[in-house]
Amino acid sequence: MTTGIHDISAATGSLVFALADLAEHEGIDVGKYHRGIGQTEMSLTAEDEDIVTMAARAAAPIIERHGTEGLRTVIFATESGIDQSKAASVFLHRLLGLPRAVRVVEVKEACYSATAAIQFALGIVARRHDERVLVIASDVARYELNSSGEATQGAGAVAMLISENPAVLEIEPVSGVWTDDVWDFWRPNDRSTALVDGRYSVQVYLESLEGAWNDYRAHGGAEFSSFARVCYHQPFTRMAVKGQQRLARIADPDGESADIDRLADTVEYNARIGNSYTASIYLAFLSLLDNGPDLSGERIGFFSYGSGAVGEFFGGVLVPGYKSQLRTEELQSMLAARRPIGYDEYRHRHIAYDRVGDFETADETHGDVRFAGVEQHKRLYEAR
Ligand code: HMG
Repeated sequence: MTTGIHDISAATGSLVFALADLAEHEGIDVGKYHRGIGQTEMSLTAEDEDIVTMAARAAAPIIERHGTEGLRTVIFATESGIDQSKAASVFLHRLLGLPRAVRVVEVKEACYSATAAIQFALGIVARRHDERVLVIASDVARYELNSSGEATQGAGAVAMLISENPAVLEIEPVSGVWTDDVWDFWRPNDRSTALVDGRYSVQVYLESLEGAWNDYRAHGGAEFSSFARVCYHQPFTRMAVKGQQRLARIADPDGESADIDRLADTVEYNARIGNSYTASIYLAFLSLLDNGPDLSGERIGFFSYGSGAVGEFFGGVLVPGYKSQLRTEELQSMLAARRPIGYDEYRHRHIAYDRVGDFETADETHGDVRFAGVEQHKRLYEAR
């Protein structure tokens, strides 16, 4: 029996802000963003969007295609949770019209937790072959205005159906894991923007990559040269290049693995969406599936990183025919349909983001589900 990703679908916010605009107002060369960190745009959520509405938009096509039979677990991975107690997947459960006989939960560890969710899901499917698990990664990445992380903000969601005999990716059983208690990036409960020690975070990401890779190999993982591509967590797409160069140096010093052209197909979506935290590595994977050549039968590597910090390296083999499962045009149309906003509107929305008490939101989203506002401390969602 093989287990892995049977279906995958993504969504992003309805607004877009160009980094050229940010650079112009900061009076700096846009090359720092376009080439230096490898980002051209950031997706932003409309007033009536959040992690739940993006998750619903990403997951709806999966439910539409596969129905709900055997779906008994939904795991929602996020680091931009909307309630301290109630799991975001409980809201999603109603919006997707899922049956009552489903367990739903939310998991957290910075950008890493969607990978933990996939591993938990594989465990469930291995015990109960007829069950399927919906894993959602959805996040809004926010930093302070004028901070080092500002240009790396973004918003996005990826939904994945985990099952046996998957149609997209068979996930191999070996994983390499790494954890260290560090302060590279964190978000205290009283803040909606993250705090970050930017350069240090890059250093810890690379240490974690090396640690997870060594653990992967120690547990019988495949050789680096056997991977057709590696998908990295992409806080900004240039980070994947740094990761690939580090890994090639320790794992394949004389080979061609350091060739960064091999990353090109994995960065297309993230360069336009920005950091989507938990969703970022799976958007890199979707970018490869949608924009890369047919790699049926080839091994793909995954390096998942979450600040704080946890890393995991694992591999999977693309299932022949996977290209026929994709919804490439839908995501590309969603990206093209985002409403561009200028610098002043971007700043205004950033400052107005945190609202307290009861309020109603403006009708702005392009999606079928909207966050309508807050009434008596309860978040209201409506489908249309
Ligand atoms: P910075 O310090 O302002 O930028 O921000 P810099 O001066 O280091 O420049 C960036 C790169 O652009 C450099 O290249 C420059 O040389 C180049 P590098 O040395 O890195 O190869 N550059 C130019 N290139 C072409 N033309 C130009 C030009 N000017 C400069 N004109 C920093 C960089 C990463 C610190 C910032 O973006 C930041 O704070 N980001 C947020 C933190 C982050 O993304 N960390 C990544 C690792 S941690 C992680 O991945 C976890 C995370 O996703 C959260 C989670 O887990 O939940 C963040």
